[in-house]
Amino acid sequence: QISRDVTLFEMGPRDGLQNEPRPIAAGDKIRLVDLLSAAGLPKIECASFVSPKWVPQMAGSAEVMAGIARRPGVVYTGLTPNLKGYEAARAARVDEAAVFASASEGFSKANINCSVAESLERFAPVLAAAKADGIPVRGYVSCVTDCPYDGRVDPGAAAAVARALDEMGCYEVSLGDTIGAATPESTAALLAAVLDVLPVEKVALHFHDTRGRALDNIAVGLEAGVRTYDASVGGLGGCPYAPGAKGNVDTLAVADFLAARGLETGIDRAALAHAAGYARTLRENENA
Ligand code: HMG
Ligand code: MG
Repeated sequence: QISRDVTLFEMGPRDGLQNEPRPIAAGDKIRLVDLLSAAGLPKIECASFVSPKWVPQMAGSAEVMAGIARRPGVVYTGLTPNLKGYEAARAARVDEAAVFASASEGFSKANINCSVAESLERFAPVLAAAKADGIPVRGYVSCVTDCPYDGRVDPGAAAAVARALDEMGCYEVSLGDTIGAATPESTAALLAAVLDVLPVEKVALHFHDTRGRALDNIAVGLEAGVRTYDASVGGLGGCPYAPGAKGNVDTLAVADFLAARGLETGIDRAALAHAAGYARTLRENENA
């Protein structure tokens, strides 16, 4: 077992690809996941059990889960917006499920077609079922600093949703800068509010890099003691319900940034660069 100072949670096969307009074959996604596990990523989000009408690209998630070569110790996860999604995820043998809420009402409505309060009610039975099955559940909070529909978001609103997910039984809450608009200042304000209600060990950060501030924001997270960061191979991605949002911060850039600070991630950077090269071939613009 490699010792790690920081855990990188790989989002590429899910957050990275969910927005691609061209259908990507399950076999290609499986290859990407296997390249990522070979590169030493300890956690890989490879599936999303959402409505195929809402996110057609993720329709083949069960096939992806069935085809990957599961490396011992690697955690393979999938999004589960409701009990129907959770049941599909369990049947596909995810190691972890993930529910996703928003700190803002506008994004909640656009992304999952319900209010924030309704979404939390919908997650309760998912958490109860997962607990009975012994499957850990991660919680996401989107739009933690800025919302594409509602504008600036109060840190207290993000903290309240994070706390609700924690109380419901999520083992960790990932704070999502869905549109990549966070700054070091807004990140610090967010963390001040969230760390009032959650221990730092239960907090992860999820930055999109739309404005090139993700690494600066991660530096603020490190200063506050956050030790888990979401990132996407090759910086793939965007959210279908957050117009203009770019991909997650590039996993290799984060690994390099951490290594320069003497923080070990356990990642084989040459193997990750190879995975990133493959990931780029899956994008529409690369094939055009
Ligand atoms: P709805 O239309 O309100 O749901 O969608 P419904 O309950 O009325 O169901 C409508 C239809 O969907 C029915 O089928 C259901 O069976 C089906 P029909 O009878 O019409 O044939 N359905 C499902 N099918 C498959 N799997 C399911 C499922 N649930 C219902 N789980 C719903 C509500 C939540 C389902 C929908 O809005 C949805 O799927 N949204 C997902 C949107 C999404 O995936 N967004 C991207 C992920 S979030 C993200 O990227 C942010 C993150 O990265 C963090 C950050 O950056 O901030 C995590
Ligand atoms: Mg995201």
